[in-house]
This record gives sequence, structure tokens and C-alpha cells, in this order.
Amino acid sequence: MCKVYVDLIILDMLLLLRNVICWFFRYRQYGLWDRYTEIYPDVDLVFTIGLSNYQTDWFFAHLNRYFYNDDGNKTYAPTTWQVLFDLEDVDQSSNYTLQLAFASAHEAELQVRFNDPEIDAPHYSTGLIGKDNAIARHGIRGIYRLYTINVPGSLLGFGTNIMYLKQSRGDRPFRGLMYDYIRLEGPSDESD
Ligand SMILES: *[C@@H]1O[C@H](CO)[C@@H](O)[C@H](O)[C@H]1NC(C)=O
Ligand SMILES: *[C@@H]1O[C@H](CO)[C@@H](O)[C@H](O)[C@H]1NC(C)=O
Repeated sequence: MCKVYVDLIILDMLLLLRNVICWFFRYRQYGLWDRYTEIYPDVDLVFTIGLSNYQTDWFFAHLNRYFYNDDGNKTYAPTTWQVLFDLEDVDQSSNYTLQLAFASAHEAELQVRFNDPEIDAPHYSTGLIGKDNAIARHGIRGIYRLYTINVPGSLLGFGTNIMYLKQSRGDRPFRGLMYDYIRLEGPSDESD
């Protein structure tokens, strides 16, 4: 009994200490953008609707992946995130609507593809957007953007679908996006 009690106290103090340390460094996390590559070293982020938790499985910003080129110089490559979702019922002759909102963007381009990551022309592209510099400044300012995107039902299928979100502008660490929300809306019910 007594030993368990002592152990608990030690654990508590360690937790307290760790929190204090984290608290001191929370303001200055220079290089936080490189954490994406460290957390997702091989495969980019995959988010499964119904299984993943946005609080733990969604990264704070859509960032580039760093690597060292043949000269040993650090460079940055685009990344493609996947959102997996199940459809039990698809109306392929109607249009769905994707609501895509960003809290911030910097020299970025988001390309959206459904179920085919290789198709040359994306199903939607924002074009080059953003001069917010919010990634370097850790998101203290940004211009809000909302895109309402038409998604032909013919791009979707029964069962598991994948939405590919590619930030296609590489080369530099500060090119990227911060999402606010993403919502795929079904076609409006024409019998209404
Ligand atoms: C690699 O970095 C060095 C030092 O900054 C630079 O002189 C060189 O031009 C770079 N090489 C390439 C291929 O960018
Ligand atoms: C779907 O959207 C396209 C492009 O805006 C439009 O031409 C078409 O009529 C729409 N289809 C339906 C069923 O609303």
C-alpha cells in the first residue's frame, strides 16, 4: 500500500514538472513546421471519418515534407493528405458540394481529387493563394477563405471513397495551409 502511494506521488511530480517545462516553451516552437515530417516520416496523414479523431489525428497545418537532396541540402516536397469516408448510398447523377474553409494560407495551392490520386487535372484547385505567413508566425493571423466546390456524384462510389488533398507547392517550409473545416454535402432532395 505504502509503496504504491509513494510511486503515485513521484509520478504526479514528474507530470507536473513536464507540464511546467512545456508551458515555458509553448511560446517559442521555432521549427514546428518540420514536426510534420517527423510525425509522418513515410506516409502522409490519413484521416478516416468515423475512426480518426480530429484532436489527435489531424495535424495543425498542411505542410511540406523535408528531405535532403543529393547535395545534402534540405528541401521541401509537397504532401497529399487523404480523407476516407464511406457512402452507403450514392446518387451519381446529382451534384454533391464540398465546403472547404481555410483559416490561413501562404503561397499554397490546394488540389482536390476524388478516388484517383494520379489524375493529371485535379477535380478542383484553389490556384496559388495566400500571403499570410501564418506558418512561420504560428498562426497568429490569417485571411479566412471559404470554397464551395461542386462535386459531380459520378466521381463517388458505393463504399469507401478517398478525397485526396494535395498542397502542390513545395520547395519551401512556409508554403502551406491551415484548415478551418471541411464538409461534404449530399445532393438536395428533389422530392422536397
Ligand atoms: C546547397 O547549399 C549550399 C550552401 O548553402 C549552396 O552553396 C549550394 O548552392 C546548394 N546547392 C544546391 C544544389 O542548391
Ligand atoms: C451538376 O453541376 C454541373 C456543373 O455546374 C451542371 O452543369 C449540372 O447541370 C449539374 N447537375 C445537376 C443534376 O444538377
